[in-house]
Amino acid sequence: MSQKLWGGRFTQPTDKFVEEFTASIGFEQRLASYDIQGSKAHAEMLGRQEIISVAEATQIIAGLNDILATIEAGELEFSVALEDIHMNVEARLIEKIGAVGGKLHTGRSRNDQVALDIRLYLRDEIDAILVYLDNLETSLIEQAEQNLDVIMPGFTHLQTAQPVLYSHHMLAYREMIARDRSRLRDLRNRFNFLPLGAGALAGTPFPIDREWVAEQLGFDGVTRNSLDSVSDRDFAIEFCSFAAILMMHLSRLAEELILWSSANFSFIELSDAFCTGSSIMPQKKNPDVPELVRGKTGRVYGNLISLLTLMKSLPLAYNKDMQEDKEPLFDSVDTVKGSLKIFVDMIAEMSVKADNMRIAAGYGYSTATDIADYCVRKGLPFRQAHEVVGKTVRYCVENNKDIPDLTMAEFQQFSELIEADIYDFVTLEASVNARQATGGTARIAVERELARLKSA
Ligand code: ARG
Repeated sequence: MSQKLWGGRFTQPTDKFVEEFTASIGFEQRLASYDIQGSKAHAEMLGRQEIISVAEATQIIAGLNDILATIEAGELEFSVALEDIHMNVEARLIEKIGAVGGKLHTGRSRNDQVALDIRLYLRDEIDAILVYLDNLETSLIEQAEQNLDVIMPGFTHLQTAQPVLYSHHMLAYREMIARDRSRLRDLRNRFNFLPLGAGALAGTPFPIDREWVAEQLGFDGVTRNSLDSVSDRDFAIEFCSFAAILMMHLSRLAEELILWSSANFSFIELSDAFCTGSSIMPQKKNPDVPELVRGKTGRVYGNLISLLTLMKSLPLAYNKDMQEDKEPLFDSVDTVKGSLKIFVDMIAEMSVKADNMRIAAGYGYSTATDIADYCVRKGLPFRQAHEVVGKTVRYCVENNKDIPDLTMAEFQQFSELIEADIYDFVTLEASVNARQATGGTARIAVERELARLKSA
């Protein structure tokens, strides 16, 4: 009973199982250093504002530093009876420096304290994730640079559509990752404001200096409404939303890598370090890493829905429900970091089977559109040109021929506009290199794009 920091109002001890059921210390330990960082800034402000004496503030800060060292050494025993990280640290402080430790909580509440801790934690994790995103972009760009000669089939409906540069395909994923990075920066900017000072919900009667604390802790300012400050979890939801979109992108790339490393495609070879064997089929080399990233996308989507559902219909301001925000958030942070880290190296180390890609790019009449475009340049309306080429392709199918193998006479059955120079237009290179406008797959367009990315 005596251990509880809020025990004054109570005459009976908490039920043991209720204690375990309501405690969050089990998963909150990762907030410890942020909790202490916030408390130190708060204590120093209390001293500066003469809410407590400077000597008391100094004593509190020294005590907090000791506790941080103990935690970092893995030597602090967290107690379930003390519920959460805030009370574990505060109880330890009082135990260490005596009653003066009890002055730390002046002008604040666990409600604004936890809102601060999650923000500090998430800000750090975001900065780490921004570096991973940068590294993945670099891996993708390097793949593109190293394989500029490789032509692969481009697909729609997973049917061969038109030939594209493999580099162009890799840079498509770079675009997705660049948008993810911009979303992450955006959301970081939106929540980088200090919630401390909101108190339990209504603010605090003490003459605190929120702006000073905000500056000490690297915030861009302070939050503007105490009720919102303690009940807002938009930032966690936005992060989980960013994470869901990022994982959707990674799972698309994962899916392609899985397909491409199958014997049927055989477009790439993943490094052995990212695959495993089968316990029964000796020939197998399974792409476990991309499969697992594809699979983990599910839990990251789930975390977003958990948080949205958690916050739905909650009345203002703080509700204990909100303690459930942490595990989904932490899980999304860990999953995203792990998935990015492993993708960076896997992409850097995969090898491309250029010959197979090229052969596949030739299947499926991938240059048919180029004949239509050829006819259009000779004055035929596109719709009619489409018809001409449709018939050409049907002829090829029926006679088991490929477009570049057709004789001049065969071509001319379909349109007299087709002349000998058609052969210059139906090669894979010609098809690819015809698409030079910005965003196209022509080698020159891709090289321009790579140069632009390098200089950016
Ligand atoms: N562990 C709590 C949470 O994560 C901290 C805030 C508790 N506040 C309260 N009034 N019980 O939400």
